Amino acid sequence: MPTLDLGVLVSGNGTNLQAILDAIAQKKLDARVRLVVSNRPGVRALERAESAGVESQVVDHKQFSSREAFDTALVEALRAKDVELVVLAGFMRVLTPQFLEAFPGRIVNIHPALLPAFPGTNAVRQALDYGVKITGCSVHFVDAGVDTGPVILQRAIPVLDADDEISLGERIHREEHALLVEVLALIAARRVRVVAASSGKRARVVIEPER
Ligand code: GRF
Repeated sequence: MPTLDLGVLVSGNGTNLQAILDAIAQKKLDARVRLVVSNRPGVRALERAESAGVESQVVDHKQFSSREAFDTALVEALRAKDVELVVLAGFMRVLTPQFLEAFPGRIVNIHPALLPAFPGTNAVRQALDYGVKITGCSVHFVDAGVDTGPVILQRAIPVLDADDEISLGERIHREEHALLVEVLALIAARRVRVVAASSGKRARVVIEPER
């Protein structure tokens, strides 16, 4: 099976990027990070890429006159590295249809809630404010909506009475790292299949058994 070539888009700390890099180094994930792209200069995620000897680029959205122009630059950078799968790992920009068309069915995102609950920003805060007793994290394929694409895997995490945004956010973050690596390993093993939408049912993901 060919090694999965990843492009990882980041905007900040990059702990999920780190989890990917660690899993590859420990041979738990048969993949290569061909390129890390940050839309913000000077973020910790870029240092993590450098420490791992992985190429990185800053494509600063503020330098572009439109979202289309920004996304075109992203696509060019990723294509130049033959990226097969794009991982949004804390990437804080909504992508245009042009970007989605450049990588059809080949973009995944990690979100800190059990989708379809609490999409968008501040998902941990939203869960606390609502008063749910269980939240979690989701990895899903990216479609044209915000956090609406087919869910690949999810993990549930209990909300404790004493939780605040920091304590709950930290527990979710830890689970995210394991979940993201698990999903990428399944994709690398070509075991993730999307079943197209039909008769009122949304497109959904099935995990093929190990061969
Ligand atoms: C994660 O909580 C992820 O779910 C969200 O952004 C955060 C990124 O964290 N999309 P990190 O930069 O990977 O540490």
